[in-house]
Amino acid sequence: MKKGLLIAFEGIDGTGKSTQLALLAEYLRDQGLEVIETREPTDGPYGRRIRELYVDRGSCSPEEELDLFVQDRKQHVDEVIAPGLADGKVVLTDRYYFSTAAYQGAAGCDPNAIFAANGFAPEPDLVLLLHMDPEESVRRIEQLRGESLNDFEQVEQLRRVSRFFTSFPHDCIVTIDASATVDHVQADIRQAVKPLLARHGMA
Ligand code: TYD
Repeated sequence: MKKGLLIAFEGIDGTGKSTQLALLAEYLRDQGLEVIETREPTDGPYGRRIRELYVDRGSCSPEEELDLFVQDRKQHVDEVIAPGLADGKVVLTDRYYFSTAAYQGAAGCDPNAIFAANGFAPEPDLVLLLHMDPEESVRRIEQLRGESLNDFEQVEQLRRVSRFFTSFPHDCIVTIDASATVDHVQADIRQAVKPLLARHGMA
């Protein structure tokens, strides 16, 4: 029984999802709303196994990898997302099943089968797809965060992932230009969220 709102942040690595999610959470709390900030992969057992894969991705097949993301999401939905929505909260998730369709799609799994395998997961009210050129996102990861790229983050791979993200036809997706300044991107995000809040009597 869903009463709250579910907003997912999606996009390739390095687009600023977690920064923007935290800023949106602050804004929504200032409006008096109760907000849950959460993310996938989670910190649960499946999420931990997924993080081990960053180091040694070849240790499992694309199908096994897909299964881990789906199991992680089942637990996330049961323990965090569904209870939050039932309580009337605004749930902000850093990644959701569009990431699985895009990343595991790029790894060779059928995106439509992936969407079907995620049928248990509540459909988001809004997906904020943070979009930027993969070269720029890689540059940000390497230069700004001082990180070297892990297995998931090779630029060729991100190009493929990005093409999957932009191909999804779902009406809930709003594409945000993530190459602008943090403040500008946040302003665009708030513009996309405001009508949703108004429709749900939360504004
Ligand atoms: P990321 O959001 O970068 O997590 P963190 O910042 O905590 O390391 O996600 C980790 C990687 O997992 C990222 O490269 C995308 C990938 N991923 C998938 O391949 N499929 C999925 O379903 C999800 C949720 C993430």
